[in-house]
Amino acid sequence: MTPRVLLGVAGGIAAYKSAELLRRLTETGHSVRVLPTASALEFVGAATFEALSGQPVHTDVFTDVPSVPHVRLGQQADLVVVAPATADLLARAAHGRADDLLTASLLTARCPVLYAPAMHTEMWEHPATRDNVALLRSRGAVVMEPASGRLTGADTGPGRLPEPVEIAGLARLLLERPDALPRDLEGHRVVVSAGGTREAMDPVRFLGNRSSGRQGWALAQVAAQRGADVTLVAAHTADLGDPAAVHVVRVGSARELRDAMHTAAKGADALVMAAAVADFRPVSLAEHKIKKDGAEPAPVRLTTNPDVLVELVAAREPGQVIVGFAAETGDDRGDALHHGRAKLARKGCDLLVVNAVGDGVAFEVADNAGWLLGADGTETTLEHGSKALLASRVWDAVAARLR
Ligand code: CTP
Repeated sequence: MTPRVLLGVAGGIAAYKSAELLRRLTETGHSVRVLPTASALEFVGAATFEALSGQPVHTDVFTDVPSVPHVRLGQQADLVVVAPATADLLARAAHGRADDLLTASLLTARCPVLYAPAMHTEMWEHPATRDNVALLRSRGAVVMEPASGRLTGADTGPGRLPEPVEIAGLARLLLERPDALPRDLEGHRVVVSAGGTREAMDPVRFLGNRSSGRQGWALAQVAAQRGADVTLVAAHTADLGDPAAVHVVRVGSARELRDAMHTAAKGADALVMAAAVADFRPVSLAEHKIKKDGAEPAPVRLTTNPDVLVELVAAREPGQVIVGFAAETGDDRGDALHHGRAKLARKGCDLLVVNAVGDGVAFEVADNAGWLLGADGTETTLEHGSKALLASRVWDAVAARLR
């Protein structure tokens, strides 16, 4: 059945981004009813929301009274997303006000509720807002960590609306798994690597691989939204933008990634190696572009890169939880899971995510599936779903080991 989503829009300048979020939600098969506040309509016209959603748009509870929309809409929703959620909207929601259609619907909804805050840094950091956010979270709502960056005008800081693609991803996650975002990583520092390394041959050419970095990106995103202090060491990734509230360190080659991981690993509680690290690199880097001069090209001699995961395991700090990934295919010696078990033992990490490559999972696609193997002998099936869903299962296992 088509999931029914209520998209609440509060009155802040970031309201213009809710049109893109709406488009993403409808294009990915959701039925979306937009509930703006009266002040949101100062920023974006009702016609925009009506045209993009194909549904009527009202702000008050006195329109279409016979269908009792202030009760029905909330009751029938599978998910409520409020983006942007302003300081005022969070305050009204936290205190159970019902002075417009959106806040009344928030009281009747029994489905997951996702707030994507957007406001000035001072407002986000004010004790009143902190208390309202804590209250909403204590009741089970997901209040996203906002992004940091340019706010209205010239100032920058935390309080920027997370990108619509990110909000849409978490909306899908909560529909897949309503309890995917507990705040169980608060107080923990975690490091995730993502993407494919590039090993230079000359100033314009490199050896690379097909990793898009999406799984590592989702791991960083989900950890940040579960309250962790997150560093993402990103080798080459698809054009994903930075996840909200994540410290991103960009690297190119395997050796750069290794240095960045060792630096970030100091004092961290968990390390996740989701990057596709090149096993080999050219022995030498040509100073000038290698020319096609008519002769047969010289063979490229390769040498082995360090195994970053094995090094991190060797340098492991007490209590640090280390997670590896393995994209495997079966062969005449065994299936993907068999190879995964052998790799877990070889690498010495606590957890290994095994993806069976192919069948629309793992590389260059939005979805993933596989198994999560523990060094303690545990084995969990990771059901087919979004990469954020798989990330949430990995963090469950990490959080259990951190406790
Ligand atoms: N890895 C790493 N450093 C490398 C190669 C891999 O840290 N030089 C990490 C990956 O990030 C992943 C895990 O090791 O978490 C397994 O990667 P994979 O490529 O499957 O393993 P390899 O050791 O390269 O084994 P093989 O390619 O022979 O299957």
